Amino acid sequence: MDRTENAALIAAGALMTLFFAALVWTATALDIDVPTCVTDVEPFRDGRVIDRGEGRYEVQMVAKMWAFEPAEVRLPPGAEVDLYVSALDVTHGLHIEGTNVNLMAVPGVVNAARFRVPDLGEHAIICHEYCGVAHHHMVGRLIVAEGAVATEAEAVAPPAASDGAALFTEKNCDACHSVDGSDGVGPTLQGLFGREVRLADGSTLRADETYVAESIRDPTAHVVDGYDPLMPAVPVTDDELRRLLDYLRGVP
Ligand code: CUA
Repeated sequence: MDRTENAALIAAGALMTLFFAALVWTATALDIDVPTCVTDVEPFRDGRVIDRGEGRYEVQMVAKMWAFEPAEVRLPPGAEVDLYVSALDVTHGLHIEGTNVNLMAVPGVVNAARFRVPDLGEHAIICHEYCGVAHHHMVGRLIVAEGAVATEAEAVAPPAASDGAALFTEKNCDACHSVDGSDGVGPTLQGLFGREVRLADGSTLRADETYVAESIRDPTAHVVDGYDPLMPAVPVTDDELRRLLDYLRGVP
């Protein structure tokens, strides 16, 4: 073996040793956990924020087409957060601006990361895995504010939307449907009531309360011509349905 080969061999060996030492150092001295799939947390279907006390929080984040739940997380700066993420439908991504959080959200699996809440202000929570037509609408918010302590109760039961407009946003209808006439993934809902609707099967109908209610609860029953049957059924209570209908009736 000539001297150059020998030197390369020794350099490679030294590098490997260095990498291994760096790995042991980060895992022990710095207490940094590599983002990982955890098996001791059951996949969950509802998102929430839990206050563990002493500046520690646990966030259980659900990713679904095309929103995060909770869509808005409020935490105080400097808090230490254990973040768990799962998905309901397809694979999504999760990146929180200003942090090193970069995870995949996979159905049936819980992925985890630990991070320190960054500086005051708003940080976008972004889906960075293409997950369907409204992928680019899948953005949440981390709001960092002094004393912004989210309690479990607060997070589990988000304040009830007081009117149909808020409900329209809360149910993510606005991810695909505009109310100003502009086209989206789905047809605009501007001036919907009384409008003549052409369906994919060539028939037409006039949009009335029965049709709109059905389109919310069973969206593929009547697909509007020119649009793909992508809309998931929206689970709404009778009261929520009434508020949505009242709102849509008022959209000129
Ligand atoms: Cu979810 Cu892209």
